[in-house]
Amino acid sequence: MNFPCRIIPSMDVQNGWTVRHPCGRGLRLIVLTASAVPPMGAGLRFSFVVVSVVIITPMVRVAVIGSGYVGLVAAACFAELGHEVICVDNDARKIAVLERGETPIHEKFLPELLARHRGHRLRFSGSVKDATRASQAIFIAVGTPPSENGEADLSYVEAVSREIAQAIAAHPNEYRIVVEKSTVPVDTSQGVRRVMELNGAPTDQFDVASNPEFLREGTAVTDFLYPDRIVIGADSERCITLLKKIYEPLTDGSYYKNKNIIPEPDEVQIPARLIATSAKSAELIKHASNAFLAMKISFINAVAAVCESVGADVGQVREGMGADVRIGKRFLYPGVGYGGSCFPKDVKAFRAVAQHCGYDFRLLDEVMKINDEQRQRFIKKVRNALWILKGKRLAVLGLAFKGGTDDIRDSQAIPGCRDLSR
Ligand SMILES: NC(=O)c1ccc[n+]([C@@H]2O[C@H](COP(=O)([O-])OP(=O)(O)OC[C@H]3O[C@@H](n4cnc5c(N)ncnc54)[C@H](O)[C@@H]3O)[C@@H](O)[C@H]2O)c1
Repeated sequence: MNFPCRIIPSMDVQNGWTVRHPCGRGLRLIVLTASAVPPMGAGLRFSFVVVSVVIITPMVRVAVIGSGYVGLVAAACFAELGHEVICVDNDARKIAVLERGETPIHEKFLPELLARHRGHRLRFSGSVKDATRASQAIFIAVGTPPSENGEADLSYVEAVSREIAQAIAAHPNEYRIVVEKSTVPVDTSQGVRRVMELNGAPTDQFDVASNPEFLREGTAVTDFLYPDRIVIGADSERCITLLKKIYEPLTDGSYYKNKNIIPEPDEVQIPARLIATSAKSAELIKHASNAFLAMKISFINAVAAVCESVGADVGQVREGMGADVRIGKRFLYPGVGYGGSCFPKDVKAFRAVAQHCGYDFRLLDEVMKINDEQRQRFIKKVRNALWILKGKRLAVLGLAFKGGTDDIRDSQAIPGCRDLSR
């Protein structure tokens, strides 16, 4: 039976009310008001209400262990992508700061994301076990500092893996994935798997994957949501499937169609490109990428030294070199050398990895040597300009390892100040 009337399409749609269980499942009630006008009934108009009920299934329940520069950004961004996230740290002060609604680090757009998702899709906890129990994917984002011989110190990763395993052993009710987000040497995934099995996690109830992080401090949120590439490394199909689901809003482009998203930076690839590899390849991609970028910096610093001695302009040389698409201009800025919590330790760790594998990666020795000399060259320049430093007052603008961040770990500015004050 036809109902002879014309529905006026301009409906008034309310966003709806949401009722959610803590597991993330719930219902959204959306109310539409519409009007209908019978064909002959000029001026007659009926209004009615349509209620639509949408069942909400959470995308993925995610835990991020370690709430530092990487973990906190990753947790906030996963929540932004629609996942239910628990962000964990064993530093009780950090968790208290986060629960109070403050942001412990300086990172553009992070306060906005935390304010948007805190208490809804993003929660904080001091318990690895509780977070593991509630999650399908557990990302490890703790520090991997250098040990005395240059190798990465994996003791934090091991400690967290043990706790995750104990939680899985106590609640082996569903399949989970443990994902290395921290920068780790090749084959760490095997070490994590071994620790987990030794601590009672049933072999068929979990997989270990590598999902290295390429964000840069200062633009970390934008880098995470608009990545050059997402690398997921795993050796089982069901693990790859779950990782793909986590990043789907970026790889199918649906995130970019939402309102109020983090603004798009220049020259980004949308949707994001995903590269699926073995776990070992993913681990190597991260170390090799950081070592290569450090090499680019040392290379242009060495070119700058030659330019200075012959009176050429390194800025012009950089322009000319960078115009070749095979080389590119990015990361070709001469300066006081690379610093920060990643490049120095990652170059050393990659050098140590190669040594273990029986390859003498001498190129990396030169990269580190040029970097050390670069700071000395800078100090020499200051001395040449001022002659005697004793009794002179010098101002140093900024101690962070680069602009846009508050991170002073391994900053070249700190030994630089010490050298100047000697
Ligand atoms: N900072 C970067 O720009 C960057 C970029 C890419 C990759 N990475 C890698 O990511 C990893 C983390 O780096 P970061 O800069 O975020 O380090 P960070 O020191 O800022 O954060 C690490 C956090 O882990 C917490 N933690 C340590 N042990 C823990 C435990 N047992 N349980 C719970 N929490 C624990 C610490 O309290 C700290 O808050 C490193 O491997 C690093 O190389 C860093």
